[in-house]
Amino acid sequence: MPADTPILELREVSTEFRVGGKWYPAVRRVSLSVAKNETLAIVGESGSGKSVTALSILRLMPETGARQGGGEILLEGQNLSKLSEKQMSRLRGNAIAMIFQEPMTSLNPTMRIGDQIAEAVRQHRKLGWEEARKIALDVLEEVKIPAAKKRFNDYPHQFSGGMRQRVMIAIALACKPKVLLADEPTTALDVTIQAQILTLLDDLKNAYGMSVVFITHNLGVVAQIADRVAVMYGGEIVELADVNSLFAHPEHPYTEALLRAMPRVDSDAAVLEPIPGSVPAITAMPAGCAFAARCPLREPICEAQHPPLAELPGSGHQVRCFVRARQAKGQA
Ligand SMILES: Nc1ncnc2c1ncn2[C@@H]1O[C@H](COP(=O)(O)OP(=O)(O)OP(=O)(O)O)[C@@H](O)[C@H]1O
Ligand SMILES: [Mg+2]
Repeated sequence: MPADTPILELREVSTEFRVGGKWYPAVRRVSLSVAKNETLAIVGESGSGKSVTALSILRLMPETGARQGGGEILLEGQNLSKLSEKQMSRLRGNAIAMIFQEPMTSLNPTMRIGDQIAEAVRQHRKLGWEEARKIALDVLEEVKIPAAKKRFNDYPHQFSGGMRQRVMIAIALACKPKVLLADEPTTALDVTIQAQILTLLDDLKNAYGMSVVFITHNLGVVAQIADRVAVMYGGEIVELADVNSLFAHPEHPYTEALLRAMPRVDSDAAVLEPIPGSVPAITAMPAGCAFAARCPLREPICEAQHPPLAELPGSGHQVRCFVRARQAKGQA
């Protein structure tokens, strides 16, 4: 594998759902890549296609009523779309692991914490319980559960929300994945615990040399954890940029609106501006720009044509907006 091969790459991935007998795309030609030890954040409002993107990577869409609408997913250059279901199940939780938003529903309430982690190890490694439990205890210590040895035999209900999320992370990391998909892993937690979990994830990413795809609707979290950011709207990437570039020069009017709607410690909360309207349903996606109906920069072309994701001169910053692409071209 050449040194610059991304660990994970999506090429024009589309995922569709059947609604009322017709197929509609929920993820539309999404292309992105994640380098080794990089954290890519996917951010966007509810219904923008973030979870469907992550579930598509692991081929975890419902068996009926959902289908891959095209594109390729590559792990270290290997095309996952060509793998059988059996090969995919070997990969899940092993080379690519995922953590979900709600830790309580993902843990087995009747099984001891330590054994749940050990079981995750045994799913992918031919190990006896004793060896698997040893690895499980190591991981439990790595996610900084205080008195891990003692807590190993506890049940999920004996853990706080933050500690349960640490257990979920331990399960995800038990097989040392190359890629961790984290779908809103801190949303259910209060702000202090959320910050601790983000720090932990960042430390573990560096310790394991992992790549992370971090899904959130919270730009504050993005600023804390991401190297690069993909902003999604209506199932598409509308802006893709380095995290510093995104916060310093947001280009898409949707990203600007998200930033204005973001609570900040350094400014008056009274200036928060919620974005009026909502993401169009997949059955009512406009032919032109998906954001046009809510956009302050809207021009006739925005409703007539679908804007491409254009790279702005010299910045590596990509934006799907006729107006902004034209303005950048004028300045260059
Ligand atoms: N099983 C399904 N059948 C039909 N439509 C679906 C299905 N699952 C998701 N969708 C639609 O696909 C779109 C993208 O959904 P997705 O769950 O990816 O959004 P999201 O960005 O993760 O939002 P949230 O922030 O609320 O988690 C939405 O319009 C949603 O209604
Ligand atoms: Mg989601």
